[in-house]
Parts: sequence; C-alpha cells; structure tokens
Amino acid sequence: MKLVRSALAAGVALILGTSAAMAACDVAFTDDVQSVFTKKCVACHNDRSPGSGLSVQKDSSIANLVNVPSTELATMMRVVPGDSTASYLVHKLLDTHLDVGGSGKRMPLSGRLKDEEVAAIINWIDDCNAVAE
Ligand code: HEC
Repeated sequence: MKLVRSALAAGVALILGTSAAMAACDVAFTDDVQSVFTKKCVACHNDRSPGSGLSVQKDSSIANLVNVPSTELATMMRVVPGDSTASYLVHKLLDTHLDVGGSGKRMPLSGRLKDEEVAAIINWIDDCNAVAE
C-alpha cells in the first residue's frame, strides 16, 4: 500500500513538473515569437492542416511544441523547456537536424529565418525555466 502511494505521488509530481514548465514557457512566449510562426510557418503548419502533425497557429503553438516528441525523431522533443540545444525545432531552423539523427529539410521549407527571428525562438526556449524559478 505504501509503495502504491509513493508511486502515485511520484506520478503526480511528474505531471505537476511538466505543467509548471509548460506554464513557464507560456509566460516567456512573446508576440515576437508567435509573429515569426504566423509569418513564416503557419501556411504549412496550421490547425486545419498541421504539417508533420505540427500547428504553430496562434494559441496552438505552445501545446504543439513544448514537451511534444518530434514526429521525425521520436527520441527528441520539439521543445525542451530551458534547453534550446535539446530542442528538435531549433535544429530544424539551424540546419543541424540531420546531425542529431532527424530527417527532412531545413525549416522554413521555402527559405530561412533571419538571425534575429531564430534568436527570438531560442531565447524563448532558454527562458522557459528561468520564469519558473
Ligand atoms: C512550405 C511549407 C512549410 C513551411 C513554410 C514550413 N514548414 Fe515545417 N515542415 C513542412 C514539411 C513538409 C515538413 C515535413 C518534411 C520535412 O521535415 O522536411 C515539415 C516539418 C517540420 C518540423 C518537424 C516536425 C516534427 O514533429 O519533428 C518542424 C519542427 C517544422 N517543420 C517547423 C517549421 C517552422 C518553425 C517553420 C517556420 C519557421 C516551418 N516549419 C515552415 C513544411 C513547411
């Protein structure tokens, strides 16, 4: 019984930990990050037609990215709160996705982001944890 209870407690802690990180990413997520997604990604990654199962439409991006496994590389999350180098999304933008074992093309398919647009996304990811503390 005691064992069951502590296993339950561990499960609850895990769930709470995940949602706290998610909330921190929510707070750190700013209009400049969403505006990059809206301008450069939503045409192919929207709620109606989520390319690779990914929608980055306004109000969907956080739930589709944070702690969600990549469909191209199941061992990596699209976004790991506080860790841009462990985030598959960032590798897809920097063209290092093949180096980490992923597949497909660099994103966005039709071109590439400006340095400051990539920086806004990286800063958002790296700031996620900072907000939680
Ligand atoms: C012209 C259409 C198009 C645009 C624009 C586009 N994508 Fe994609 N995206 C795709 C397609 C098709 C795939 C799957 C094939 C591939 O990876 O090359 C994909 C795959 C991805 C994946 C992998 C999903 C996973 O689960 O691992 C990510 C992450 C991604 N895109 C992010 C973005 C971001 C961020 C932008 C904007 C900066 C963007 N894409 C713009 C078409 C697009």
